[in-house]
Amino acid sequence: MAIGLASCESKEEILYKQYVVEGRVLYQTHCANCHQENGSGLKDLYPAISQASLWKRMKSDELTCLIKWGRKGTKGYMPGNTKLQALDIAEIQTFLREQWGPQKTIYSLDSARFALKTCETKL
Ligand code: HEC
Repeated sequence: MAIGLASCESKEEILYKQYVVEGRVLYQTHCANCHQENGSGLKDLYPAISQASLWKRMKSDELTCLIKWGRKGTKGYMPGNTKLQALDIAEIQTFLREQWGPQKTIYSLDSARFALKTCETKL
């Protein structure tokens, strides 16, 4: 009889790790070409996103809208990623927090879904 892998991890911890792993892949595909793999950005073209101060300036829900719909701002133009769904965005943000955020917590699917309803900028 198989006993299975002994694991002390809770469901929440497993979900968190899954989001981080998948978020990393999505980040590399959709974000790293501009913001770079280490989040350093690229000179004056693309801002760094690896400082913890980012989360003081920007709420997570605002970041959800930015990822989905893009923005033309003082630092340049970031195109939207309209194909990314709530789950993708939840995973990306969980990865960003894990890498650079002050709090290494999950950004839940429900939060991402809720935030998407509040976005003002629609293409
Ligand atoms: C084509 C290049 C490009 C891609 C791809 C891109 N960004 Fe951006 N990003 C920018 C630019 C340019 C800005 C500055 C926009 C502005 O001035 O408001 C920006 C701004 C940001 C900011 C805010 C930075 C700050 O200091 O306010 C965050 C966070 C961010 N991007 C995350 C992401 C994430 C996550 C992805 C992937 C889903 C992504 N970006 C994809 C170019 C890009």
